[in-house]
Amino acid sequence: MTLSGKQREMNQDKLVSRKIITIDGPAGAGKSTIARLVAKKIGYEYLDTGAVYRTISYHLSRILIPPVESEDLASALENCIITLRDGRVLLEGEDVSGSIRSQEVDRIVSAYSALPTVRRFLMRIQREQAGNADIVADGRDMGSVVFPEASVKIYLDASLAVRAKRRWKELADRGIEATYEEIMREIEERDRMDSAREISPLRVPEGARIIETSDMNVESVAEEILGIIESRAG
Ligand code: DC
Repeated sequence: MTLSGKQREMNQDKLVSRKIITIDGPAGAGKSTIARLVAKKIGYEYLDTGAVYRTISYHLSRILIPPVESEDLASALENCIITLRDGRVLLEGEDVSGSIRSQEVDRIVSAYSALPTVRRFLMRIQREQAGNADIVADGRDMGSVVFPEASVKIYLDASLAVRAKRRWKELADRGIEATYEEIMREIEERDRMDSAREISPLRVPEGARIIETSDMNVESVAEEILGIIESRAG
């Protein structure tokens, strides 16, 4: 799927007939792994909104546009083209899948994500995406703000210690060295910023089922969500 400010095919009528499953939660709760798996099992498209916020933050910081409202920022957003394909993220054709998951991006993404212009822009292209396919969307405000009409809303959580361990392992697997304490502090700070911002803060959406995943493996979380989807469909 390609997300661009230049797209103008928004079709709100189509949107109502599409099925949407939202998965929200804090950093490191396992949202993307679970959302991808659930989407695959039920044949929906997976919309990784964290990847889009990360790509935008990476792009803006690379072209030296700081995380404050400005005309330069608005026009850079309108002109940037992001493609999500087979689990990879392309920024204007360049594969940035690894770069957007760096610690540097972890540190800047919440500041860019708190800007009204960034959120408005993404709100539009996220909803456009749901007009084109049935989707499983993960993020921070999927069930609360972007897709309040979703048929199934999930909120994944886990203790800070478990989330930091997962993130530490993910970085270590990619050869990136960082101490567990450092990761824990950074996750805590990102959670604080994502929950305290004025627009679309991280919240448990109304009607969401909360799943505490600290002591669960990926398969059992996915099974539980599939059970919820089935029971709602029934
Ligand atoms: O899910 P993630 O850790 O890849 O998300 C990275 C950041 O993007 C997160 O710290 C805040 C922002 N984000 C957001 O503000 N709203 C979303 N729907 C998804 C992500």
